Amino acid sequence: MLDVTKLSAAYGQVTAIRDIDLAISEGGILAIIGANGAGKSTLLKTIAGQLPTKSGSIVFDGDDVSGLPAYERARRGIIMVPEGRRLFASLTVHENLQTALSAKRKGAWTLDAVYDLFPLVAERKDRRAGNLSGGEQQATAIARALVANPRLLLLDEVSLGLAPSIIGELYASLPIILEQGTAILLVEQDVSRALNVSDEVHCLLQGATSLAGKNIALSEISAAYFGTERDS
Ligand SMILES: Nc1ncnc2c1ncn2[C@@H]1O[C@H](COP(=O)(O)OP(=O)(O)OP(=O)(O)O)[C@@H](O)[C@H]1O
Ligand SMILES: [Mg+2]
Repeated sequence: MLDVTKLSAAYGQVTAIRDIDLAISEGGILAIIGANGAGKSTLLKTIAGQLPTKSGSIVFDGDDVSGLPAYERARRGIIMVPEGRRLFASLTVHENLQTALSAKRKGAWTLDAVYDLFPLVAERKDRRAGNLSGGEQQATAIARALVANPRLLLLDEVSLGLAPSIIGELYASLPIILEQGTAILLVEQDVSRALNVSDEVHCLLQGATSLAGKNIALSEISAAYFGTERDS
């Protein structure tokens, strides 16, 4: 479904990701890990089209989308839940979900189906998004993304700073999303969680892939995560 080859992107003159290769098939889940500033959000933004591709390709459902604007990629089903969630604080939860209806693609995720998946969102549908806890906002942001019926869901820092009980609920929803054939590309700070939930993990270090694989042991990750010079 998604085939990223030698992808690079920059902020002005400063290259932030370099020669990234990754692929995800329908219903697959790949996790990106890496230290602060490694380029994880940049990679997601580049795939979503919020940042231009400097070189390399992003092939999605057979087409190179790397030159397409973000809204066109969203129309094809590349939907991102950004770091920090970006809900409309003064709108209710329900109104936030409704904002996604205009970009809705055909698929299983009706408003009712999304509320069934996240009872905690349903219970708060008339509350203003700005008054929710971080975890409730994260669930609402994922629910809003689902309403658009993504083919590829890009999730940045799903669990950062959230209460463990809510993290459990959010992660429990992922297999159900994958069952519908949606693929997930996930940025996760919690390395063991990333290893547990995903088919494949890629570790970024200073904008490049330092380790990638399907059965990586926790013990292999430290050098790839911090760089081998850390102790010197
Ligand atoms: N808008 C921007 N303008 C210029 N440089 C940026 C911008 N956003 C990020 N960068 C730089 O690009 C690099 C990668 O940043 P990015 O946000 O992708 O990292 P990250 O892995 O998501 O980090 P974090 O774990 O802190 O979210 C960093 O060096 C960062 O300082
Ligand atoms: Mg980030």
